[in-house]
Amino acid sequence: MEKIIWDNRFNLQIDEIDRQHRRLVDIMNRLIATEDEKASDDDIADILGAMTNYLGYHFDTEEQMMLDHGYPELESHREEHQTFVTQTAYFIATYREGGASLKSDILLFLKEWLVEHIVKTDGAFGDFLRNANAD
Ligand SMILES: [Fe+2]
Repeated sequence: MEKIIWDNRFNLQIDEIDRQHRRLVDIMNRLIATEDEKASDDDIADILGAMTNYLGYHFDTEEQMMLDHGYPELESHREEHQTFVTQTAYFIATYREGGASLKSDILLFLKEWLVEHIVKTDGAFGDFLRNANAD
């Protein structure tokens, strides 16, 4: 699977969030790389753990920033985060139970969700913040 190449569309022009998104893309790319490398189950479990931890931290940062700026879409944005956390936790549990290889459909789901969420849902918050600052 192709790794995610950082794209200008990912930039929200919010320094802290952009930095965190780059880190998430890096972790996702490490996960994608396990497909080609002979990664052990432990390696994959480590990366999945890092991903889960960092996602929790990152979502908290975003939601707090939205709260601070009175972002009207906070609730639906938070729901999107929570649905993703639930789905990811389910994938990880399934992976651990089965000890199975990380299926490419799971990788694809994670990758596509991340890109789509950054560009569309987070992008909307970036637009909101820029407009608010322009006033
Ligand atoms: Fe988000």
